[in-house]
Amino acid sequence: GNESTVSITVVGASGDLAKKKIFPALFALYYEGFLPKHFTVYGYARSKMTDAELRNMVSRTLTCRIDQRENCGEKMEQFLKRCFYHSGQYDTQENFAELDKKLKEHEAGRVSNRLFYLSIPPNIFIDAVRCASLSASSGNGWTRVIVEKPFGRDSESSAALTKALKQYLAEDQIFRIDHYLGKELVENLSVLRFSNLIFEPLWSRQYIRNVQLIFSEDFGTEGRGGYFDNYGIIRDIMQNHLLQILALFAMETPVSLDAEDIRNEKVKVLRSMRPLQLENMVVGQYKSHTKGGVTYPAYTDDKTVPKGSLTPTFAAAALFIDNARWDGVPFLMKAGKALHNKSAEIRVQFRHVPGNLYNKNFGTDLDQATNELVIRVQPDEAIYLKINNKVPGLGMRLDRSNLNLHYAARYSKEIPDAYERLLLDAIEGERRLFIRSDELDAAWSLFTPVLKELEEKKIIPEYYPYGSRGPVGAHYLAAKYKVRWGDVG
Ligand code: BG6
Repeated sequence: GNESTVSITVVGASGDLAKKKIFPALFALYYEGFLPKHFTVYGYARSKMTDAELRNMVSRTLTCRIDQRENCGEKMEQFLKRCFYHSGQYDTQENFAELDKKLKEHEAGRVSNRLFYLSIPPNIFIDAVRCASLSASSGNGWTRVIVEKPFGRDSESSAALTKALKQYLAEDQIFRIDHYLGKELVENLSVLRFSNLIFEPLWSRQYIRNVQLIFSEDFGTEGRGGYFDNYGIIRDIMQNHLLQILALFAMETPVSLDAEDIRNEKVKVLRSMRPLQLENMVVGQYKSHTKGGVTYPAYTDDKTVPKGSLTPTFAAAALFIDNARWDGVPFLMKAGKALHNKSAEIRVQFRHVPGNLYNKNFGTDLDQATNELVIRVQPDEAIYLKINNKVPGLGMRLDRSNLNLHYAARYSKEIPDAYERLLLDAIEGERRLFIRSDELDAAWSLFTPVLKELEEKKIIPEYYPYGSRGPVGAHYLAAKYKVRWGDVG
């Protein structure tokens, strides 16, 4: 019949991301019944490996979130039988032509759709796209390519990459991944805002005093220093993950939920932003710290990091959107590695209640009397709203308490990994959560000047101990805008 099949090729199959995220996500989709009846998964990489060896490698990382479930073992075997391996160079077209031949055998004359996931280092990226694309099409189905960041390291290199990609692929074949967009609570942002009357009308400078986007990790670059040193935290987290959240948070209401309508609004808000300035930025780098008899390394102790590197592992920034909705509202970002905890959250701090009858019941710290909406993206997903409440009793004392939506308590279903959502969307051709090239341009325009300035002026980062809350400069930056970081309480 005219049944179709999908061939999924993971280029860079022996890499960390493939092992930790891509294969497990594909398995989870299979387990949940989301993959089409006919599908094949191919691993592609340089090292020599047999199908059996690939299966063995994949099976070791399939100890994913569902490995405790019923008949998981059986499903895993069925899945692994559909996984194959092809060894080839990334810049050799014949190797991709051999892969094409193998794929054709599996596709057995059906309508054949092909998804390539390029999970490879940036320096071989364009070569791989060229070689893959020349033999990537089955001739009768769609061909889509998922690409992972880094999408260049500034406006120029990103534009060059886009140009090169477009020589081989149409924009609607390119799926630029930002895995933060696949996170459950990031996806929920629009639902929260646009389907609850109590939020959308307050979503502006009139009621919101500032917005904070906070990312922290409690480990350093451990082993990834070689990649990281060339990029730094601003490119690794802020320019993509945090800025994407900001765009979703701040955009105007899209015409519909269609991918182009949503991305049009995201581009508009990004283009309304002021390029980040050095005076609105703090950079830091972690230094060694000994705690409880354990010595945690400095960033520059990493063997893969050049001596004396000034690359920031921490950054805080104040950004502004010059449009009618957000004029004057600081959007504060903070991102760092080797901090005291691992978390990602959005904090919305509301204005003071004008002429508040109860001001005197708060004592002197009126900042403690404003509402705050917290969206905890991870871990332990939650949405809570800090409201003022009377402490029960005969007196009149107020305190701030939480209206709390705690996902683990409210929903019994596990939260899928971001890569599951994104892979499924790519298979289904849903582009809503992928980055369009004009969005990418706009994002780079905001950060490129300050990145250049930091590098040209050789700005020395503020050193902070491994495992601490980061440089104190972040507090001064917030204070400049009369803001306090919500996560330090
Ligand atoms: C990646 C960064 O994009 O995101 C890493 O390159 C970072 O440095 C990671 O560790 C964080 O993702 P998650 O999903 O673990 O929060």
